[in-house]
This record gives sequence, C-alpha cells and structure tokens, in this order.
Amino acid sequence: MRATATAQPNIALIKYWGKRDSLRNLPAVGSISITLADLATTMCVEFDAALANDVLTINGSENEAMLARVSRCIDSVAGEDRKAARVSSNSNFPIAAGLASSASAFAALLVAADAALGKKDARSVLASLAGRASGSAARSLYGGFVELRNTAADIELVELCAAPDWPLEVVVAITALGPKAVGSTEAMEISRKTSPFYSRWIEQQAQDLDEARAAIAARDFARLAAVAEHNCLKMHSVMWGSRPPMIYWNSATLACMQTVRELQSQGVAVFFTIDAGPQLKAVCEPADEARVRDALENTTGVEDILSSGLGEGAKRIADE
Ligand code: PMV
Repeated sequence: MRATATAQPNIALIKYWGKRDSLRNLPAVGSISITLADLATTMCVEFDAALANDVLTINGSENEAMLARVSRCIDSVAGEDRKAARVSSNSNFPIAAGLASSASAFAALLVAADAALGKKDARSVLASLAGRASGSAARSLYGGFVELRNTAADIELVELCAAPDWPLEVVVAITALGPKAVGSTEAMEISRKTSPFYSRWIEQQAQDLDEARAAIAARDFARLAAVAEHNCLKMHSVMWGSRPPMIYWNSATLACMQTVRELQSQGVAVFFTIDAGPQLKAVCEPADEARVRDALENTTGVEDILSSGLGEGAKRIADE
C-alpha cells in the first residue's frame, strides 16, 4: 500500500481567478496552462494500519499546516473510512511563493494515493479530484499545453498540444521568497465580492481562451504572447481593484517586466506572465533562453533564476 508519483507545476497563460462553487472548488472561468519539465514535486504515500493519524513531511520536516488539506485530498480518492497514511513530499523549487507548488503537490498526491490503493482511476477522474484540492492542480495531471474547461457539472481537461510539439522555455525570475500574504482562495473571494472589474473579467474570458487556443493550434508565438500578457494584466487589475487591494508585485517584478519589454523591442520572442506572487515567468523560444535568462539575472532585485522546458503530466515512478 505504498506508491510514489511525481508532478510538475504548471503556469497559466490564460488565468483561473474566481470560483463558481466554493464548496466543490469549481472555477468560475476556464484556463490554459503549460506544464513544466524540470521543476518537480515527488510524493510518496504509504497507508499503514499501525498509524493513528496521517503524517505529512514536506522537504524533510513534519508539516502541520498543510495536513488537513492533504488528508481531505486523500479522503477524496480513498474514502474517509481508510487507513492513516504517511505522506512525504519533496520539491526541487521554492514552495508557497507563487510557483504553483500546490498544483504539483496535489497532482502527485492523487496519483500516488490512487496507485497505493491499487485503484487505477482514469486521469480525468484524478484531475477532477485534484481540482477540488487546488483549482490549478487539475492541469498538472496533463502535459504540454492544457486547457481546463468548465462543464455544467464539473471540469474537463484537454491536452491542446503535447510538450514536444511546441517546445518553449520558461525562465522564472524569483524576486522574493517566502509565503504570499493572501492565499489564492481568500484573494479570489475578495475579488468576487469587491472588485468592480470582476464581472467583466468573467465575461471576457471565453474570448481570451478562443484566442489562445487558436494561437496554440497555429504555433503563433506573437499571437499567444499578446493574449497571455493581456490576460495576466487583466487578472492583476481585478486584484488591484479589490478592497482591500491585492498587490502581489514588488519593484523587481516591475523591473523584470521592463526587461521583457526591452527584449521584445530587440526582436526577442518572449512574453511574461505573473501569478499570485511576485515572481515573473518569461516564456520564450529555446533559442532565446540564454539571452532571456541573462537579461533577467541582471535585473535589479532578482534573487534567483530557474528555467525549464515543457513536460509531461503527473505520473507514478518507482519508490525511492
Ligand atoms: O489553484 P490555486 O487556488 O492556487 O489558484 C491559482 C491562481 C493563479 O495561479 C493566479 C492562476 C492560475 O490559473 O494558475
């Protein structure tokens, strides 16, 4: 009753922001993301009748804060009448800093728990359960370019383009470490209740999804760049217009944005996106990765740089 799985974070190009059903954690809008290759969370789950309660270890230290969410997520696949589990999670990148560590964690957790139970649930079932734990986690079950669609009763995931069919690079400029001030669930609720831009954001999302889908089908980088930056800045405008306002950027985030603008003016195929945190993610073609990385590394306030190509969805791996 033990299994290990690995999953990569995903970066949304067309963002999920807002819930239509808080109880089931269903998103108010569809989204499109890219799954990374080189940043990963490995999750080992072992059900053990000798344990009284679930135990969670994150990067070697016992973690109480995330335990309830992890236990609920295991219940969703195992049922509440189950043996307690020993869960150990290891990520090779900073967690809780707007790098979608919850996405890779819950995607890997569901694949590992399902395998440890010997259940062999379909990927779509695990994606739907991952979405209950963290909306963006559903997308990490799949690789390459992934669309999350809202259906009447649930969500549906579609792989729009496999990673090798349009190789792109993501350069992450880390501008501050440490957990974010307001978690995304709370922040989305504040936006829904108070931002005057929230309803327009929801109304316009279908248009951005259509545009991004068409750009991906045509492998049209400039078209994808334009709609992704627009959608990102629109999501942040919703946050800035909320009461209290939610400003996740710092001065280095803005400096990185300026660096991307300068690269674009020099003809480099690159665009930026930013999630609920201060890190800037620059998406570019592989030939430009070194130049983009170098420019961001030399931007004032950047503390660290990570980069990754696009990869596959969550999968079971051999136990360590
Ligand atoms: O899945 P959550 O609850 O961490 O929310 C993710 C929200 C954004 O990262 C800002 C956008 C997205 O689509 O990933």
